[in-house]
Amino acid sequence: MNVVNEKCEVIRNERVSSDGHVLVLNSRDISRQTLPGQFVEIGCYGEDMILRRPFSVFDVSSESLSLFIKIIGKGTKWLSELNSGSIVDLIGPLGNGFTVSSNTRSLLIGGGCGIASLNLLSRRLFYSDCNTDTIFGFSKPEEIPREIIEGFQKRANRVLVTVDKGPYPIIGNVVDTLKEIDLENYDRFYCCGPTRMLKALEPFLYKREVEVSLEAHMACGIGVCYGCTINTKHGSKRVCLDGPVFKMEEVEWNEM
Ligand SMILES: Cc1cc2nc3c(=O)[nH]c(=O)nc-3n(C[C@H](O)[C@H](O)[C@H](O)COP(=O)(O)OP(=O)(O)OC[C@H]3O[C@@H](n4cnc5c(N)ncnc54)[C@H](O)[C@@H]3O)c2cc1C
Ligand code: FES
Repeated sequence: MNVVNEKCEVIRNERVSSDGHVLVLNSRDISRQTLPGQFVEIGCYGEDMILRRPFSVFDVSSESLSLFIKIIGKGTKWLSELNSGSIVDLIGPLGNGFTVSSNTRSLLIGGGCGIASLNLLSRRLFYSDCNTDTIFGFSKPEEIPREIIEGFQKRANRVLVTVDKGPYPIIGNVVDTLKEIDLENYDRFYCCGPTRMLKALEPFLYKREVEVSLEAHMACGIGVCYGCTINTKHGSKRVCLDGPVFKMEEVEWNEM
């Protein structure tokens, strides 16, 4: 797999929730090589935005690549305001990606923008004859990207969506929902979301086959600056190069 620098034209920029956008970009070089869980570094041009920003690849086709952007600061706001025809500069695909084996029973657990890497993963699992269930957690009902959730519902047996604060049918977080599920139904678990969510899941899942995608702060994104280093049971690892996907049992959660 080659990491390439590609200039991509914005085909569409769609608002999908109160703070979420899906940016569809013209891409051939990166899109055709990307595995679920891999990410790109995208240049954002504006005041005080020297560093590229990392985003999981949300979806791919042979001619395009999509990103799910949750607005939290300058760069994500800038990306959410791009018009069709704008050109953006991407480096990718970066990182390792999730392991996909056929005919498994998998539980996908995502929080916030964790939905991005799980989207491409759920497609690959679907085409690999895997049975999947999914749990998503959002802070508020208006942050739920409903059309994206409907996409998951077409590929999964069951999709449970929780929100921290209602009104919504399931109130609570993903851990509350996980406690009500028989974990013996699954061979594999895939988790992506904020570090505090992943830490909260660890006591329930640590003995199982679990892959987590970590959201570290990144600078170079290509393994050079060591700015994204974490401690693992096998020593220091760079999230951008050795991850972002790690086995849950490998991560030193007390130091995260
Ligand atoms: C491998 C990887 C994949 C990611 N995939 C996605 C994705 O698919 N969709 C998405 O919306 N976001 C994703 N992120 C997070 C995204 O990169 C950050 O939200 C983005 O860089 C913030 O840029 P900003 O300029 O808007 O925020 P800034 O203005 O730089 O910062 C705003 C606030 O957000 C905090 N922040 C910035 N970056 C991060 C981060 N990486 N983790 C936690 N807090 C952060 C800052 O400390 C600050 O408090 C991913 C991050 C990583 C490492
Ligand atoms: S961000 Fe520079 S080494 Fe990972």
